[in-house]
Amino acid sequence: MSDSTTDTPLSIDSLPKHVAVIMDGNGRWAKAQGKARVFGHKAGVEAVRKTVSVANRFGIKVVTLFAFSSENWRRPEAEVSLLMELFMTVLGREVKRLHKNNIRLKIIGDTSRFSQRLQDKIAAAEALTAGNTGMVLNVAANYGGQWDILQATKRLAVQVAEHGLTAEDITEDMLAEGLTTAGLPDVDLLIRTSGESRISNFMLWQMAYAEMYFCEQHWPDFDEDSFANAMAWFVNRERRFGCTGEQLQALLQQ
Ligand code: IPE
Ligand code: IPE
Ligand code: MG
Repeated sequence: MSDSTTDTPLSIDSLPKHVAVIMDGNGRWAKAQGKARVFGHKAGVEAVRKTVSVANRFGIKVVTLFAFSSENWRRPEAEVSLLMELFMTVLGREVKRLHKNNIRLKIIGDTSRFSQRLQDKIAAAEALTAGNTGMVLNVAANYGGQWDILQATKRLAVQVAEHGLTAEDITEDMLAEGLTTAGLPDVDLLIRTSGESRISNFMLWQMAYAEMYFCEQHWPDFDEDSFANAMAWFVNRERRFGCTGEQLQALLQQ
């Protein structure tokens, strides 16, 4: 007897369009091996490469990676500078590969606090890949979800003043157009590694209806199989968007 689940081909529409990842656990990974935290950050770069590559092969439209939060400045100065240096090096080294794979890179976050050198490198990387039509790769750096909503609100306030609008004229779409992810689909799936089940001020507006996948692996151990497991978990979720399961069933029978 054939199994109906294996008979039904999995459609690309069942996969998430936008996958966001909180890459957590670099420090704990390193500590578990008696090494300094920086080794974990360096090892995490390989997990980034694997994730981008496998997401691209799955045909995911948008991937957003949380690389540095607005709260991460509170870490020891040496760790912050190491992370900045690493970001510089990786950006320089990987951007050609991204370009070759038709991936469009965008750094989202308040980059004004970065060194001029890093800001220039970011601008060059974004410009090189701006015309690419494949997957969009957002790297969230000095990013905070509350900051994103606040900066969108400020833009909206300017728009309201310039066009003589009233409070009643403001719509959700108008606010979303000011977010760093304007024009991109909302997050369908959030992955967070290393056992923590919190959002840590990541994309608050964009994750309103995201499925949340928390796994125990530390980020440097995350690989193609880990990503595929998260995809399988997502496909098996029943997403309701505020409807009841019965309503969805009825829709299927129309
Ligand atoms: C994630 O790993 C990387 C960044 C936040 C930059 P952590 O550095 O948070 O590692 P843990 O959570 O301390 O293990
Ligand atoms: C969130 O991880 C930020 C990034 C992965 C860049 P953290 O490790 O900084 O988050 P908290 O402090 O544990 O919430
Ligand atoms: Mg952490």
